Amino acid sequence: MPRRPVIGGNWKCNPATRDELATLIETVNKCETTHCDVYVCPSPLHVASCLVRITNDVKICPQNCNFTGTGAYTGEMAVEQMSDMGIDWVLLGHSERREYFSETDTVLATKCKYALEKGFKVVYCIGEKLDVREQGLEAIMAVIQSQLEQVKGMLDADKMVIAYEPVWAIGTGVTASPEQAQETHAAIRQWIADNVSADVAAAIRIQYGGSAKAANAPELYACPDIDGFLVGGASLKPEFADMVKILADAFIAKTP
Ligand code: PGA
Repeated sequence: MPRRPVIGGNWKCNPATRDELATLIETVNKCETTHCDVYVCPSPLHVASCLVRITNDVKICPQNCNFTGTGAYTGEMAVEQMSDMGIDWVLLGHSERREYFSETDTVLATKCKYALEKGFKVVYCIGEKLDVREQGLEAIMAVIQSQLEQVKGMLDADKMVIAYEPVWAIGTGVTASPEQAQETHAAIRQWIADNVSADVAAAIRIQYGGSAKAANAPELYACPDIDGFLVGGASLKPEFADMVKILADAFIAKTP
C-alpha cells in the first residue's frame, strides 16, 4: 500500500492581524482530509483561536514545545498544556528554531522524547545549508545523519513524520528539483533502513519542504520517496487547499 500523504502549513510568525487569520482559517476549513493528513502550525498566540475555528479534521501542530512539563519555563509551551487543549501533534527542529533560537540536536532529541512519551506525533525537521549542498550527497548525508542520530531510536512510522527541508530552499523561491529532492529522500530512507529497520524505512513518511507550492507539487509528489510537503509561504495563501487536493488526487490514483 502506498504511504498516505501528509501536508503541513507552517505559518511561522504570521499573520499579523486577526482578519488575516480569519482568511487563513477559511482556507484550512476547505481542506479535504479524507485521503491526506493535514496539519497547520499557527503562531502560539493563534493556537487557541484555531482550535475553536478549524472545524474539519485538520490537526493543530504547534511550532515548538518545552523539553519537559509545566513549571518555571518562561516563554515556553508544555505538551501537557497542549494535550489538555486536545492537541497531539508538534513540529520540532525547524531550521529557524535551530538557527535563531539555538536549538541543538541534543535539546531537540529531549523534546522529541518527551512529546512522544506524552502521546504526541512529532514532525521532525532536518536539512542542510547551501554550502553543504554544494559539496554533494555524501556531505548532505553527513549533516542529516548528525541530525537524526539522537532520535533514530524513536523513529516510528505511526508517531513521527520527517520533514526534509533544505535550508537553501526555505523561503527563497528556489525549490529543490525533483531529482535533487528524490535523491536525498531516498538516501534518508536508506539510512533509516540501515540504522533503524527496513520496516520503519518503508513506512515512515518523509515530507519535502522548501518553496513547495501548487505549481511544483505534482512533479515533486510524483517522486517515489516524497510523501507530502511542509509548506511555509504558500500555506498563507488559498493555494494551500489546492495542494491538499493535488496530494489526495494523486494518492487515490496510485492506490490499488
Ligand atoms: P517555504 O517554507 O515553503 O516558505 O519555503 C517552508 C518551511 O520553512 O517550512
